Amino acid sequence: MASPAERLMHNRVFSQLYERAWRPVFTRGFSLGGSSTLTYDRALRAYLVRPGERSVLDIACGPGNYAQDAARGLTGDGVYVGLDYSQAMLTQAATANPIERGCFVRGDAHHLPFASESFDTVTCLAALYLIPDPLPVLDEMARVVAPGGELIIFTSVRASVAALPGAAALAGLTGLRLFGRTELLTRLAAHELTQVEQTITGVGQYVHARKPLR
Ligand SMILES: C[S@@+](CC[C@H](N)C(=O)[O-])C[C@H]1O[C@@H](n2cnc3c(N)ncnc32)[C@H](O)[C@@H]1O
Repeated sequence: MASPAERLMHNRVFSQLYERAWRPVFTRGFSLGGSSTLTYDRALRAYLVRPGERSVLDIACGPGNYAQDAARGLTGDGVYVGLDYSQAMLTQAATANPIERGCFVRGDAHHLPFASESFDTVTCLAALYLIPDPLPVLDEMARVVAPGGELIIFTSVRASVAALPGAAALAGLTGLRLFGRTELLTRLAAHELTQVEQTITGVGQYVHARKPLR
């Protein structure tokens, strides 16, 4: 059965409110009252917007929160593809964040409809904690990223304060998962990625990793 948070993602009104109202508050919440997640988020956006001829896959793109930043700097044959399984989110993405170089597609992050090693940048931001079986999504990300390409993930982490019963209970009620500190890294290690960096911001974590060139 879908969790409350999962059901919300298919709601048309929520998809319209998400980007401007929910997401900024939620992003700040990951820092546990601080602003480290917002600061990292700004740095991530500045990184995504850098000029280059890249193919970018944004898994669970939602209403296209990062689409403009990820697509704006693309040059040559660079392309952005946003993938999500919620029609409501995709409709909002196409309306609020139209992009010239690329498209939004409906699909399941567990079964990416793309050839292996076909993207230079593969992101999955603020989504893994909603997905009931999230670790196979990392395998799919590792499969579709090209040699020399990068994975960028933002999700939750079980920091010490999150071990408190209240945080665990809230996570349980909403269906949001709190990942163990090494859970993602362990799964990614099976794919022999290099330069794996984890940055923890409160109960949020950013992971950046590369597939080695052959
Ligand atoms: C909280 S939103 C995040 C949207 C965006 N990435 C952001 O950072 O603002 C999570 C998104 O994950 C999508 N999602 C959840 N499970 C998915 C799956 N199995 N395959 C594709 N998308 C999924 C939901 O539809 C929702 O749009």
